[in-house]
Amino acid sequence: MIHTDFLIIGSGIAGLSYAIKVAEDAPHHDILVVTKNDLNESNTKYAQGGIAVVTDYSKDSAQQHIKDTLIAGDGICDQEVVEMVVNEGPERLKELISWGAQFDRNSDGGFSLENEGGHTKHRVVHHKDMTGREIMRALRATAIQMSNIKILSFHTAIDLLTSKSKSSSCHGAVILDNLKGEIKHIIAKNTILASGGAGQVYTFTTNPDIATGDGIAMAKRAGAKIEEMEFIQFHPTALYYPDKKPVFLISEAVRGFGAILRNKEGEAFMYRYDERKELASRDIVARAIHSELKKNNSSHVYLDCTHLDNEKFKHHFPSIHEKCMTIGINPAINMIPVAPAAHYVCGGIKVNKDGLSSISNLYAIGECSRTGLHGANRLASNSLLEAVVYAHRTYQHTMLTVNDSNKQEIQFDLPNYEVVKLNNEFIQSLQRQLQEIMSHSVGIVRTTKGLTKAQEEITTLEQKFNNQVNLKFTSTELITIRNLFTIAHLIIKHSLDRKINKGGYYNVDIS
Ligand code: FAD
Ligand code: SIN
Repeated sequence: MIHTDFLIIGSGIAGLSYAIKVAEDAPHHDILVVTKNDLNESNTKYAQGGIAVVTDYSKDSAQQHIKDTLIAGDGICDQEVVEMVVNEGPERLKELISWGAQFDRNSDGGFSLENEGGHTKHRVVHHKDMTGREIMRALRATAIQMSNIKILSFHTAIDLLTSKSKSSSCHGAVILDNLKGEIKHIIAKNTILASGGAGQVYTFTTNPDIATGDGIAMAKRAGAKIEEMEFIQFHPTALYYPDKKPVFLISEAVRGFGAILRNKEGEAFMYRYDERKELASRDIVARAIHSELKKNNSSHVYLDCTHLDNEKFKHHFPSIHEKCMTIGINPAINMIPVAPAAHYVCGGIKVNKDGLSSISNLYAIGECSRTGLHGANRLASNSLLEAVVYAHRTYQHTMLTVNDSNKQEIQFDLPNYEVVKLNNEFIQSLQRQLQEIMSHSVGIVRTTKGLTKAQEEITTLEQKFNNQVNLKFTSTELITIRNLFTIAHLIIKHSLDRKINKGGYYNVDIS
């Protein structure tokens, strides 16, 4: 058993920025970061476009960023949260820079700003097309130098330790040491879920293998409120190169740079769907592509960059250029095949403005949380922004309350797990089937019949799994498949509960 003041589950932008803040402010407190892969592996590492923050007040304003976020969210964002996040963004950007993150600058010293779908101004601060990699480099370098941050890599959180004696409260988590196959109980005054998204519940996703919705599933099992899981965001332009997983993203900033979407016939079709064309918000562009694919019975459309200045393109998007070239696509000459892919969960663990969930001492920050910022469709590049703003607010709140009496150790039964090695092929086959059902029936366009059928099919798959596997057995594969079942059920249930189409949720039987 390990005791700590702050247990942070996840080491992406949300988890590491929170850990650094607490460590800087409270050298006498213990901070433990648990992460299921190496410290770097996260959705954050793959972020391309950048962070949406107002930096040039001569051309942009907080009001305009707020308005764009509200429009993208299709009327169901929490306006107070939107205002708070946008207004606090510039300070948080300065902090990232103070920790060593470098963002591209113009010759006049101002930030080089990209444009993306749904933004009416160029306001996306970035590091080439590798913003996430640069942020992770800086956060990792800062965190590993801090003597009061202890990091347990290759450790997977299985479940939260909660007490339901009075009201529900969280006191840590049960962790699996992936390499040694040992169980550890971590008793914590504050538990912070920073475990990221859940793209792996779909076959075609931009998210790496770690994105299996663990934090959301654990919080659900612990009884926390989970909301708006029906709003899965599909990124319109993932590279269509079906054998490679996760699929490589072609950043929305490429459309912001002037790339044009074309269908199989070579027609630039976006004008038929939205007057903003390629720079309409992500839900609209993804649905337009879906409709073109159905109409033409094709698997992908094209992103045409051939008319763009190739030298500038290479300078702005070196990793995208390199990736395309390695598969024989020269963006100066060839159009890039693209298709929508599951990208981001707008919903998640419901939190207040301090990042506190409905369970005391349990916080959620970053992609696993549902703050109210994104509503029905996240505005591009608002995710990294949300993560740093909520890491800060949660840090402030937990520092104020860390010594409260309700955070003192209490007695409760520790769950028993037996670490086992099971037939991996059986689990992998279940995971593939689950992803196929979700991709087929719970994608960009849904039907009530399809959702109900998917619910039945997934229930059957889960029963098959439960008949074979004792509840006490655990392993990294078992943790993953159990969580994916929970996430799939949440997405379907919340979809069936939704009676009005909004943003990224579209059910043909409703409109
Ligand atoms: P993550 O960065 O995903 O970190 C989650 C962490 O939790 C990981 O360390 C993981 O290993 C760990 N973890 C998960 N489960 C467990 C467990 N059970 N036990 C222990 N550890 C666990 N957003 C933008 O704003 N701008 C962009 O340009 C942008 N581009 C993107 C490009 C791609 C390809 C992708 C996939 C996403 C992009 N996004 C972008 C979204 C954004 O990157 C993510 O939403 C954001 O990085 C999430 O940060 P996070 O800290 O919440 O989670
Ligand atoms: C991108 O670069 O297109 C991704 C931006 C985001 O997900 O916010």
